Amino acid sequence: MKKVLIDCDPGIDDALALALAAGAAGSLDIVGITTVGGNVDLELTTANALALREFLRLDDVAVTPGSGGALLTGAVRAADVHGSTGLGGVVLPAPRLGPARGHAVDFIVEKLQAFPGEITLVAVGPLTNVALAVRHEPRIVEWARELVIMGGSYTRGNTNPAAEFNMLADPEAAAIVFGAGWTVRMLGLDVTLKAMVTTSVLDRMRPLGRLSELLVPATQFYGKVTDEGGPAIHDACAVAYVLDPGLFTCVPAEVNVETAGQYTRGMTVTDFRIGDRRPNALVATAVDVPRFWDLVVGAYEKLATRLG
Ligand code: BDR
Ligand code: CA
Repeated sequence: MKKVLIDCDPGIDDALALALAAGAAGSLDIVGITTVGGNVDLELTTANALALREFLRLDDVAVTPGSGGALLTGAVRAADVHGSTGLGGVVLPAPRLGPARGHAVDFIVEKLQAFPGEITLVAVGPLTNVALAVRHEPRIVEWARELVIMGGSYTRGNTNPAAEFNMLADPEAAAIVFGAGWTVRMLGLDVTLKAMVTTSVLDRMRPLGRLSELLVPATQFYGKVTDEGGPAIHDACAVAYVLDPGLFTCVPAEVNVETAGQYTRGMTVTDFRIGDRRPNALVATAVDVPRFWDLVVGAYEKLATRLG
């Protein structure tokens, strides 16, 4: 069993990533979910994580709220993409249980310290919590088995031409994280946008009972699904990487996050010409798309059986 701690800002694709993790229960041990302000405000990302925890039957997984805002700047939100509540039009049953006591930053540090070398930290929102955790306790860099992020890109942005949303939402945090001394596994738009939900993928999600009531409308809200293309469920790529690293081709690089540029703030400037320099990132450049969807839909099918 691989231990994962998931830091997220649900968020439609965060929800689909959590569903993937829940569906892979036999292979993944989710040691906790932490929330961060991102797609929508922290109150909503936490409320969504709590509702998802129960809907996905992850009842014994703690949900610990973290940072509401970026380290230095005002909030960048994506309610236009994820809907005003963060989950598109989907309304999940109200959760019975509340969040855990304490702060996500302490939770991350405590868990990584308790299981050194065992936990993969999967961060699929702005990197505020991770940056604060690494500043609070730099040894988490050694304690983490790996840091896997959905974020950045070496080719393009999505929130603007240069920057991907999670990077733009807190560039200073991202700069701290990339400069912390670990080798960040960066699954950016370069690969996530290759794995789009096409009509045939969506058709595989339709017969999944209660789970389909989340997957199908959330995906359709996220983007128009056609035979040729549709929305990418970015954050699920990070969980899929943990489940099957061979899905992705990753290349060593030096990634620096632009924090000052007038037009390029939040850009992940990626240098693959590292020569003798130590790479601070392993950047995904290719994904096996059919195998990705087989993994994701297979996990959803298992989960659907449990949910009824
Ligand atoms: C990332 O930004 C967010 O809107 C998504 O949840 C994902 O983490 C994609 O750029
Ligand atoms: Ca996200």
